[in-house]
Amino acid sequence: MELSSTWTRVVVLTGAGISQESGLQTFRGADGLWEGHRVEEVATPEAFESNPHLVQKFYNLRRNHLKTVEPNKAHFALAEFEKKFKGKFTLITQNVDDLHERAGSKNVLHMHGELKKVRDIKTGEIQHWEDDLTVESGLRPHIVWFGEIPFHMDQIQEALEECDLFVAIGTSGLVYPAAGLVNWTPQNCHRVEINLENTPVSPAFHKKLHGKASEKVPEFFSL
Ligand code: OAD
Repeated sequence: MELSSTWTRVVVLTGAGISQESGLQTFRGADGLWEGHRVEEVATPEAFESNPHLVQKFYNLRRNHLKTVEPNKAHFALAEFEKKFKGKFTLITQNVDDLHERAGSKNVLHMHGELKKVRDIKTGEIQHWEDDLTVESGLRPHIVWFGEIPFHMDQIQEALEECDLFVAIGTSGLVYPAAGLVNWTPQNCHRVEINLENTPVSPAFHKKLHGKASEKVPEFFSL
């Protein structure tokens, strides 16, 4: 497909499925992160209030694990596309890993935060962080927990409202507002879903590409 000549404003939304082949667990499903942890115990402001040690430990483990994995072909294909594409490209990710950046992506909006950032609980100041966090530090993971408002929503809305190609990759379509972003695209926007299987939001897409992200993404985004 001639991606470059057909479209001028491309928005991609990624979820945990794109990092699965790099060795990061997805959230749902048999082997998912939420199988081993109750969301309410580790990913809510209430959990951080009542058991900050457990919450910090959960994110410390994930931050450490991130050091052991590498971007895969799907991350690289998106970075390559962004470099060559003449139009406007926006990458929205729900992922808190940094695999898109490590693959070379530039314009990345982390709507659910980033594992390698922390923020001061009192001042809100954000800083880069690679090590373990302690409860005594007065810092919290810069992660959007359930019940909190995702980041960059204005920029996300703006990009979606003017896009002519929207591609959702490796996301279950179960967590809002991310799952509903497809409905913010204009009527004439071409919408493509890349996933192992159909999701609850599949009917909103014109085209469904079933298969592994490492295969389908490079195929679709080859210029
Ligand atoms: P999920 O774990 O809910 O869904 C992962 C999706 O990726 C599923 O639809 C799988 O079918 C698909 N998938 C798995 N492996 C794949 C592969 N190799 N190639 C292509 N697709 C694959 O993850 P998310 O949709 O990202 O939020 O979850 C959304 C949010 O829920 C997360 O950002 C996180 C979580 O709670 C917060 O923590 C705030």
